[in-house]
Amino acid sequence: MSVIRVSVVGAAGYSGAEAVRLLSRHPRVVLTGLFGSAGGRRAAFGSLHPDLAGLDGPEVVPYVEAALLEGAPDVAILATPNEVSAEVTPGLLAAGVRVIDVSGAFRLREASLYPAWYGFEHPAPALLGEAVYGLTEWCGAELEGARLVANPGCYPTSVLLAMKPLVLLLAPHQPLLVTSASGVSGAGKKADVAYSFCELAGSYKAYAAGSHRHEPEMRQELGLADEAAFSFVPHLLPVVRGILSTIHVSFDAPVSDAAVADRFARVYEGRPFVRVLPAGHLPELRDVVGTPRAHIGWKLLPGCRRAIVVSAIDNLLKGAASQAVQNLNRVFGLPETEGLL
Ligand SMILES: NC(=O)c1ccc[n+]([C@@H]2O[C@H](COP(=O)([O-])OP(=O)(O)OC[C@H]3O[C@@H](n4cnc5c(N)ncnc54)[C@H](OP(=O)(O)O)[C@@H]3O)[C@@H](O)[C@H]2O)c1
Repeated sequence: MSVIRVSVVGAAGYSGAEAVRLLSRHPRVVLTGLFGSAGGRRAAFGSLHPDLAGLDGPEVVPYVEAALLEGAPDVAILATPNEVSAEVTPGLLAAGVRVIDVSGAFRLREASLYPAWYGFEHPAPALLGEAVYGLTEWCGAELEGARLVANPGCYPTSVLLAMKPLVLLLAPHQPLLVTSASGVSGAGKKADVAYSFCELAGSYKAYAAGSHRHEPEMRQELGLADEAAFSFVPHLLPVVRGILSTIHVSFDAPVSDAAVADRFARVYEGRPFVRVLPAGHLPELRDVVGTPRAHIGWKLLPGCRRAIVVSAIDNLLKGAASQAVQNLNRVFGLPETEGLL
């Protein structure tokens, strides 16, 4: 049985560490290198994951392209800041290493959006057309053998999984309103007083309303024009992990629970990582945190022309690392569930 050689860059960060944990138990994967920032310290695999004590893995060392290539990986998972992924990807691809990027560096197809939403000129715009947007349940044959996969953002994963099946039912001129709440690990490991315990515990706040970089990604993947009335307001929830998105939708004509259930079943029947709840049951974070699953529920409002749709995921798993492993499995022709169930 052939193995897949995988290196992880950003291995000590929150989503990178989750990827390492999943991959270290994956029956078809060998970890060939774990990397952190150039200024970072070397760290033993076991200090990253005391829960995996006894499993061997490479040390986490500062990232240098030549050091990664020495391990001869088939694929690199990049769990790095956006600019870092954008910079290192072209070299890795040129060296024959496939890339699954957990950052936003290759999610937007329009290079001109990067300065406004991400704050940098894209250094490799030609690759934006090649990157496969890896919302796994919505990918077809383009994922098999892909050289570059752009793993979706955490908020977009929760919203798109819930919204894409319903797009054809939506009233085109009515607003689509999304309120999402994320645990604090969504901001990564960086030390910043705004994310400290005393600033967040016991509180709940909206941030980046109308300016969050996941907004153009959701517009792109839902096929919404710039002028479409879509509003996305992220909130910071004082828990470690999990995202819950509450979406207010309007339909073109009255719909039944059966029609909504049918839309979801057409896409997600037999897909183990998306669980659609019975009509009227809304998901909650505790049922998905620590799992690779999304849970989706809806409630029709009186008159059946409007509904509340709620979607919950673990931001570090279905929103990042486990979706990256689903994508890795598909790229290499393995069952999507390998190493994840
Ligand atoms: N957190 C989430 O819920 C989530 C979900 C989906 C996607 N994402 C995206 O995934 C990426 C990682 O997010 P995160 O939350 O896991 O961040 P994080 O906890 O801050 O970790 C970032 C990692 O990147 C490494 N790094 C920074 N600069 C580097 C460089 N120049 N070369 C090599 N490694 C470098 C850091 O190394 P050191 O350990 O040495 O500092 C760290 O391990 C981001 O692009 C983020 O937007 C995050």
